[in-house]
Amino acid sequence: MARRALITGITGQDGSYLAEHLLDQGYDVWGLVRGQANPRVSRVRKLLQDVQLVRGDLLDQGSLISAVERVQPDEVYNLGAISFVPMSWEQAELTAEVTGMGVLRMLEAIRVCSGITSSRAAGSGQIRFYQASSSEMFGQVRETPQNERTPFHPRSPYGVAKAYGHFLTQNYRESYGMFAVSGILFNHESPRRGAEFVTRKVSLGAARIKLGLASELRLGNLSARRDWGYAGDYVQAMRLMLQADAPEDYVIGTGRTQSVRELVVAAFEAAGLDWERYVVADQALHRPAEVDLLCADPKKARVQLGWEPSVPFEDLVAMMVESDIKLLSDGGDPDQDSSWP
Ligand code: NAP
Ligand code: GDD
Repeated sequence: MARRALITGITGQDGSYLAEHLLDQGYDVWGLVRGQANPRVSRVRKLLQDVQLVRGDLLDQGSLISAVERVQPDEVYNLGAISFVPMSWEQAELTAEVTGMGVLRMLEAIRVCSGITSSRAAGSGQIRFYQASSSEMFGQVRETPQNERTPFHPRSPYGVAKAYGHFLTQNYRESYGMFAVSGILFNHESPRRGAEFVTRKVSLGAARIKLGLASELRLGNLSARRDWGYAGDYVQAMRLMLQADAPEDYVIGTGRTQSVRELVVAAFEAAGLDWERYVVADQALHRPAEVDLLCADPKKARVQLGWEPSVPFEDLVAMMVESDIKLLSDGGDPDQDSSWP
């Protein structure tokens, strides 16, 4: 019988790629969607016609229990979150509730539905749980590159909420014997990336300037460095983690790091433009506390899971710029739900 997966965050970038990947692998895929009339559901329906939807919200414990009861999943991928770091300063409490406490609610839904108690541990055939942890937890990094043993020093309410979810996942594994793991994923991008994140802001900005739709691009800290990979590669690592013999956490990244300035140079070069004529550095876009440098050591995932990233940084940036030039040339609106390539 096909394995059943339940994905929270199905309307987001990773949810879409993970759903496609699991469908390819023969899974029955269910996506949790929130809201009475969530406008982003239409793009899931359009792009992922074989995914079944179930209503639920990470803020609502009962809805998660109902979703698990209805779907009877073999695997749960918890990708739902408030994921935009600047928003976590503006709505710190909501971020804690969704990105942090949401993990507790999802784990509790699995525990309750599986009949696991302090005296009755998880047995074979249990639901396997994946938590979307983040390199943002490393924050002000203690060492470079960062691996599974690098201590955390989060620099945003988002990073703090993710650290809570990370430790809680570990705790449910240790307390109840649950197959619960965290993937500590470094930044991963694609043509489906939200327009608020820097890679997509830059690819859209370069595309708009190329087509005469804009004359400048305002950015914040150009010196910050990130380890950027392709989202399509990273969702494969999520599935591999849940197929492993034992539940363990893994760092997922490329092992290379580039600055935002290098990202801009690559994107404008891909569009055939001189970036210095158009990019304006704006102090107002700097963050209250910055993560200056992220760079993964993904050795454990390579050795134990056989996972490798397949898209180099320059190809990723070119892919995003080309996709946005095409989208805008065809009259598409990146803020509209139907625009996913
Ligand atoms: P994304 O595009 O921002 O998607 C976030 C998803 O969370 C959306 O589907 C959103 O659904 C859902 N969500 C928000 N509030 C919710 C709630 N109250 N209940 C249920 N779902 C809710 O994020 P992404 O880039 O795909 O990332 C997926 C996960 O990986 C996130 O947890 C993120 O923090 C984490 N992560 C991402 C990266 C990265 O570089 N992309 C790296 C490390 C970790 P709506 O449509 O309803 O808003
Ligand atoms: N968004 C944005 N907009 N970022 C900018 C800008 C700008 O105009 N200018 C410079 N930056 C810098 C930010 O200060 C940050 O250092 C870097 O670009 C990356 O910003 P984002 O693309 O917003 O991503 P992030 O690193 O903060 O967070 C993403 O990656 C995390 C994993 O490390 C998100 O996907 C998180 O959800 C994820 O956990």
